[in-house]
Amino acid sequence: MKSEPDRKNPFKFGSIVEEPYFTNRIEEIRKVNSILNSPNHLIIISPRRYGKTSLIIKVIKKTKRPFIFLDLQLITTSQDFASQLLKRVYRVYPLQKIRDLIKNFRITPSITLNPTTNKIDVSYKTLTLSSEHTAVEDVLNLIESLGASKAKPVVILDEFQEIKRIGKNTDRILRSIMQHHQNINYVFLGSQESLIRDIFEKKKSPFYHFGHLFPLDKIPYNEFFSYLSNSFKKITDDHNDLSIKLLEKTKCHPYYTQQIAFTVWELVSANRLIENPVQKAIEQIIQYHDIDYERLWNTLNRTDMKLLIGMSLSDSSPLSEEFSRLHSVGAASTVFSTLKRLIQNGFISKSTSGYQIDDPFFKQWIRARRSN
Ligand SMILES: Nc1ncnc2c1ncn2[C@@H]1O[C@H](COP(=O)(O)OP(=O)(O)OP(=O)(O)O)[C@@H](O)[C@H]1O
Ligand SMILES: [Mg+2]
Repeated sequence: MKSEPDRKNPFKFGSIVEEPYFTNRIEEIRKVNSILNSPNHLIIISPRRYGKTSLIIKVIKKTKRPFIFLDLQLITTSQDFASQLLKRVYRVYPLQKIRDLIKNFRITPSITLNPTTNKIDVSYKTLTLSSEHTAVEDVLNLIESLGASKAKPVVILDEFQEIKRIGKNTDRILRSIMQHHQNINYVFLGSQESLIRDIFEKKKSPFYHFGHLFPLDKIPYNEFFSYLSNSFKKITDDHNDLSIKLLEKTKCHPYYTQQIAFTVWELVSANRLIENPVQKAIEQIIQYHDIDYERLWNTLNRTDMKLLIGMSLSDSSPLSEEFSRLHSVGAASTVFSTLKRLIQNGFISKSTSGYQIDDPFFKQWIRARRSN
């Protein structure tokens, strides 16, 4: 069947979303804007896939300010940090301007034009620890100087909790450089809440109270409901009921909601009379991820497994006596430390309504496997 233009699947998951896939966040946008228009720095934290990156990119693109975005997940050392950051500076500022300022660098990088990508590559010869830190300082100070003449740049460091892995004392060095900068707004994003909180809220941490800490929540029910329902209206009269059922399963988790919605759209477009499309979509997604889930499951220890099985079968709090009795998870202190670890590893999230298995499909997968 030929697809009509307005019948294009309106849902998207997995990467940064912009219009028309981006919904709501009006209050969050206002708040982020107001911080970026002040001399302050910003820290956005949330569990995985709540929309941190999408939010910050949306706000920054609108301001038209120059921004440098670096995801620390794939950065290996401080030296790598310096070269990857500098590479991104080249994408934003005119060559001539950078060339003039780079003359002041104490550690000289080698700059080459990659003929296949037509992009600048930056590398350093292997550096000693202290030269690595000097290289980082040179690059950050370069951005500060570039910011003095033009619109104030924003430097976004995504998955910032990774800084601890990148190098001993790298956090200390970064902080000592950044605190002198007047022409940059720094934005730190992080998805491992406890690690990020340690970095910015522990008194002995170099980044203690360095910026405004902004916890990002899920998308509010009413707004997500209208977004889904308005989209499904194009293909079914059952759009309200469908959206209610869908949100009941995902509890408004931005990524998982878009993922089920995407699959439901495919199923309903292919067969308007399909029964229970939300359930069918979930089954399809679980089947698709079966191998990943199995691999994930096998990384868990026995207490983790017991707790997750219990949480997939019952809605009572894992810290309650009833839960402990039904699922033999042991003493409350064991449950508590297990929960903490599972939160850190992204399996469980904690919200005002209590502890939840973060991925609703993983939850269903556990249930399905248990009842097999
Ligand atoms: N405002 C939004 N409206 C609708 N869907 C959204 C919105 N923000 C995020 N999403 C959904 O969540 C997914 C993840 O978004 P994004 O990558 O921005 O989150 P993140 O918090 O940066 O994730 P990660 O922890 O993986 O870095 C998107 O692909 C999209 O499906
Ligand atoms: Mg992200």
